[in-house]
Amino acid sequence: SLLLFALVLLLTAECLRARRPRSFPPGPRAFPLVGNMFSLDPGDIQFNEYETKYGKVYSLKMGPSWTVVLNGLSALQEGLTKGDHLNDRPEFPIHSDFSHFINRLFYTHCIIFSNGHMWKQQRRFALFTLKYFGVGKKSLEFSILDEFMYISKEIANHKGKPFNPHLIMNNAVSNIICSLVFGHRFEYGNEKFLKMMKLFDKGSQIEASIWAQLYNAFPVLMRRLPGPHHALQNIYGEIMDLIKTEVNQHKEDWNPSEPRDFIDCYLNEIQKVDAGFNEDNLVMCGFDLFGAGSHTTSVTLRWALLYMTKYPEVQAKVQAEIDEVVGTSRQPSMEDRADLPYTDAVIHEIQRMGNIVPLSLPHVTTRDIRLGGYKIPKGVTIIPNLTSVLFDKNEWETPDAFNPGHFLNPEGKFVKRAAFIPFSAGKRVCLGENLARMELFLFFTSFMQRFSFSTPPGVEPVLKPRFGVTLSPPPFEICATPRKE
Ligand code: HEM
Repeated sequence: SLLLFALVLLLTAECLRARRPRSFPPGPRAFPLVGNMFSLDPGDIQFNEYETKYGKVYSLKMGPSWTVVLNGLSALQEGLTKGDHLNDRPEFPIHSDFSHFINRLFYTHCIIFSNGHMWKQQRRFALFTLKYFGVGKKSLEFSILDEFMYISKEIANHKGKPFNPHLIMNNAVSNIICSLVFGHRFEYGNEKFLKMMKLFDKGSQIEASIWAQLYNAFPVLMRRLPGPHHALQNIYGEIMDLIKTEVNQHKEDWNPSEPRDFIDCYLNEIQKVDAGFNEDNLVMCGFDLFGAGSHTTSVTLRWALLYMTKYPEVQAKVQAEIDEVVGTSRQPSMEDRADLPYTDAVIHEIQRMGNIVPLSLPHVTTRDIRLGGYKIPKGVTIIPNLTSVLFDKNEWETPDAFNPGHFLNPEGKFVKRAAFIPFSAGKRVCLGENLARMELFLFFTSFMQRFSFSTPPGVEPVLKPRFGVTLSPPPFEICATPRKE
């Protein structure tokens, strides 16, 4: 009977906690214990319904905590770009716990999940260093075009027969991060490289699973329950060890006056005796750049190929523009972008429709704030719903249809659109935006210049996304027919 009494007490407390705090934005009814946890599927139509029903700013209960969702361009701009009260990230138990297990400060000391001075310092340094090593410069352009020659060979090996482009894309974009961080690329068959790709894939599958969501909502319980979430500890530990080996190799022949890559620059910074820069943080920053920079760009390129098979007339128009402006005797360059408005518009439309990070990354209020007319206390998680902007019927002529015309004026010139925010907005906007844009442009134009893509005979392209760490295309096979040299 004591147990029953405790259970009733717990349930009553949960029912009380499921009541929305006064002055909080409205939202759907929350269930005891789980709240609205199972609504968090961005592919789910409910997200649109909530916006229609409750307005641009509404609240959901994720497990035990209340969360506010921002919808539409003006609410996102109000939240993310005005002031610095939303610059922080919330802490996720799954990250802080596993940092404890592997006896390092892990997530909170790198870029993506750090806050305050540590975040500003690491972010500023990473941005500066990426720029130094060529983001926006010819040297990086050459690395990307050089990498394309490797993937081009891999693709040509399939001789027009169906193949799954997943691994090829992953390898290519991961090698660009390797060049920037480690100062070299890997052969695609390299054991260490393959191991790293595999570990990142496995880790992100677990991070996106219901196990991770449950862990973050009910850490005390999940710590004791067996499940795949416990594998994260080893996966992250192994990735860290691989990056650490690279750092140690760098230390052997490092010349401070001639930094070769991100690691060398960071080693130089460590000499300046600032506590924020040390070898553990260096390893964690490397981890962040791989984690955030490989999968995202690779998924976008896979969407690009899939959309081209779905809309062969768009593919043909892109190829005609590239043939006219670039020709076939040289590789495309960033300088061509201004003369390739249709191609540029197609890349933007692929990113809009691909919508790969639909809910951005979570932010947290650093003080009590007013947002969309509501009072939101300090410490509340804020979800910027990028989907609500990328598919807003008030911003786009045909929001649900693939239409490169969204980025073209009547004269066929490329036009920027404020509602194009796949990289989010504000001070925490994607750190790799310029790098990603360079990679997408150079890889995509090179693909279109050298190959024509189609689905295997009798197969219809499936555009329904799969929800993981990103919205990615379902696995697909593709045929690549070489075009004239
Ligand atoms: C953060 C999207 C590629 C590094 C983000 C965020 C989004 C995003 C939506 C969250 C911003 C926020 O919190 O409001 C994308 C997309 C990409 C891409 C769509 C490719 C198409 C890259 C690349 C890198 C990168 C190539 C590698 C350098 C980061 C980092 C952060 C971030 C380090 C955390 C920034 C911070 O917390 O200050 N990205 N990203 N991303 N991205 Fe990207």
